Amino acid sequence: MTDSTLTRRDVLAAIPGLGLAALPASGAFAQEEMPRRRIPGTDESLPVIGLGSSKPVTQIAERGPEPLANVLRTLVDNGGSVVDTWPRNPDNDAAFGEVISRPELRDELFIASKIDRSGREEGARQFRDTLRLYRRDAIDLLQVFSLTDLDTQWKNLQDFREQGTVRYLGVTVATKDLYEPLARFVEKEKPDFVQVNYSISEREAEERMLPLMQDRGIAVIVNRPFMNGDLFAALGDRPVPEWAAEFHCRTWAEFSLKYILPHPAITCVLTETSNPAHMRENARAAFGRLPDAAQRRRMAELIDTV
Ligand SMILES: NC(=O)c1ccc[n+]([C@@H]2O[C@H](COP(=O)([O-])OP(=O)(O)OC[C@H]3O[C@@H](n4cnc5c(N)ncnc54)[C@H](OP(=O)(O)O)[C@@H]3O)[C@@H](O)[C@H]2O)c1
Repeated sequence: MTDSTLTRRDVLAAIPGLGLAALPASGAFAQEEMPRRRIPGTDESLPVIGLGSSKPVTQIAERGPEPLANVLRTLVDNGGSVVDTWPRNPDNDAAFGEVISRPELRDELFIASKIDRSGREEGARQFRDTLRLYRRDAIDLLQVFSLTDLDTQWKNLQDFREQGTVRYLGVTVATKDLYEPLARFVEKEKPDFVQVNYSISEREAEERMLPLMQDRGIAVIVNRPFMNGDLFAALGDRPVPEWAAEFHCRTWAEFSLKYILPHPAITCVLTETSNPAHMRENARAAFGRLPDAAQRRRMAELIDTV
């Protein structure tokens, strides 16, 4: 999806007397669009909150596709578009493909997937299957999962782009032990996107990874914003401090997202959920004030005591 593509939101906004106010509300900020960040070196921008779809896609086997469809509709209705996924098994991937092909979603999503195989032919076969099962001629972003067989798969990705089956290329890491090989890679190659773990309780990416991506003009997608839920378990029923209201923050999910979002390197944060209410809450974190540098320090100090 590009800036020049007319989306359902654009069409609604263009209808006189209807405008963006008619779009589903994101709480007190119903009349605002979700803020977007530019993909460096392009005219395209992405809404800052996306969906990490591992959990709802895996749950299709027991719960069917509707929970995933509900969470994706909530993402889109709140101004989001980025959905990150990766191939699992043909049944799951076909169900994912059916959901993202529904009329209300088909042209609204920025689809990011991955290759997690080793070997040139294995990787190519995995991506051919992905396209077939997702019912697409092309996807927006293809990433090498956790730097797996990186040199080989990077060549595959470049071939796919030449063939027109993918628009942007990326690599992912989700643990700090991969920061060093990631740094070596981006110093010699220039992916469009890097996906990296970053949260208020996992801040190591601030030291070298985020400044490096900013210097190199690489878009950053954040994973593990809630440490896969461990953040909530650690906080228990502790209340969110009253001073968080200064930057329109009411919940611990918003607290972590509002800590992440002001960083200038960040393009989009993936939040994983199978709960539409959580998706709405996560989208809401993009709206309203964000903390300034002093407030961010105070937030980090508080989390360090937990
Ligand atoms: N190497 C890689 O490429 C890699 C590795 C890890 C992750 N990722 C990507 O990053 C995405 C997100 O990271 P993650 O998987 O670590 O998950 P995460 O977003 O850090 O945490 C997900 C957990 O938080 C809960 N949650 C979400 N929103 C909430 C809210 N508002 N209030 C309370 N609980 C909430 C979810 O449960 P509910 O369902 O109950 O909301 C889920 O259990 C993944 O889906 C994937 O796309 C990539």
